[in-house]
Amino acid sequence: MSVLPDTAVVEDGRLCVGGTALADLAREHGTPLHVYDEATLRARARAYREALAAYPGSARAVYACKANATVGLLRVLVQEGMGMDVASEGELAHALAAGAPPEGLVVHGNNKSDDDVRAAVAAGAGLLVVDHLEELDQVDGIAAAEGREQPVLLRATPGIEADTHAKIQTGHAASKFGMAPGDLERAIARAAACRHLRLDGLHVHLGSQIRDLGTYLAAVEWLARFEPAARLPVLDLGGGLAIPYTDEDDVPDLDAAVTATATAVAGRFDPLPELVLEPGRSVVGTCGVTLYTVGAVKRTAAGITYVAVDGGMSDNPRPVLYGARYQAWIADRADAEPDGAYAVAGKHCESGDVLIERAPLPAPRPGDVLVVAATGAYAASMASTYNALPRAAAVLVAAGGARTIVRRETVGDLLALQV
Ligand SMILES: Cc1ncc(COP(=O)(O)O)c(C=O)c1O
Repeated sequence: MSVLPDTAVVEDGRLCVGGTALADLAREHGTPLHVYDEATLRARARAYREALAAYPGSARAVYACKANATVGLLRVLVQEGMGMDVASEGELAHALAAGAPPEGLVVHGNNKSDDDVRAAVAAGAGLLVVDHLEELDQVDGIAAAEGREQPVLLRATPGIEADTHAKIQTGHAASKFGMAPGDLERAIARAAACRHLRLDGLHVHLGSQIRDLGTYLAAVEWLARFEPAARLPVLDLGGGLAIPYTDEDDVPDLDAAVTATATAVAGRFDPLPELVLEPGRSVVGTCGVTLYTVGAVKRTAAGITYVAVDGGMSDNPRPVLYGARYQAWIADRADAEPDGAYAVAGKHCESGDVLIERAPLPAPRPGDVLVVAATGAYAASMASTYNALPRAAAVLVAAGGARTIVRRETVGDLLALQV
């Protein structure tokens, strides 16, 4: 399993994606630049569809927009038949702008504002996932005011610790998300008394970048044993499947992971619920690479050689947040032997602004285009404008062509917000 997009090839030393040399894209569009490969994106959506087809009941995958809400990507996923998981009024608006059918929307949030709920109910969202007891009354009241019946799921907190970074575990007993078993039972009873809600089922999401499939099987087992929810028609197991970020990363195959989960549900539930999955990272992660231009190259007294690039923690905060590791190439010398391990630093005013601590690279020089792989998920969507750096542009590549899908932010855009 490669960390690069499916279409990546090296031609005369030049790394190409979607039939286009990445260094040429950097020259034409500037850097930092997010490059997304349409073929990889479609292939991952298709992989989910095909793996879920083996489930004997009805099943669907809804894409978690938090991973990357770029409308140009959402459009592709809508074409591929994916529903959309949205976690704010803003994500909802992005999904609708991409043409997502409202009935395929799953609405999340551990602290939904009235505006979040109103926008979802008014749009006709197919499912709204209730996070805590009081939210039932909030949604019921808003659904009443909108003259609608809102189908809901209840988010369970089963107390399972996923095998991932503590900051992205979500189903453990101390999680801020969802309801402990006692509250969940109370919520099932209370939902029955809410005239404008229809309780369709339960939801569980245990975390992100999960490698151990046993985590999903534990969730299925927990849900199967949770008697008060027996016979509800929908079971949503969230997302979380890991992707590789470096060649050393060992992660489960997507098809094997979905098949194992679907088989477990089919074996434990009778009648079969509709199975919903909410993948984010495993749909968009590998389709993206980020291009930077190398600036300062300097050696410290401690013997570290820093290769500074024109972005950093503002376009990809994951290394700072979770110690995430990445792999990099020099775009025009992609097949050259590395001559050492370099620290790839950003240009922000924090010593921690280091994208890769030890990247094997072939003598990086100022002006080189550096390619960081597997940046499709949780990079652009978590971007900031720290140091008043405008946010990066994005292009979608397919069959030798590149199309701008996010224009580069400007300092003027930043100043326009100041009143
Ligand atoms: C409720 C919910 N569903 C789905 C996802 C997507 O997770 P991932 O991108 O790891 O697949 C998340 C992310 O944390 C989430 O909170």
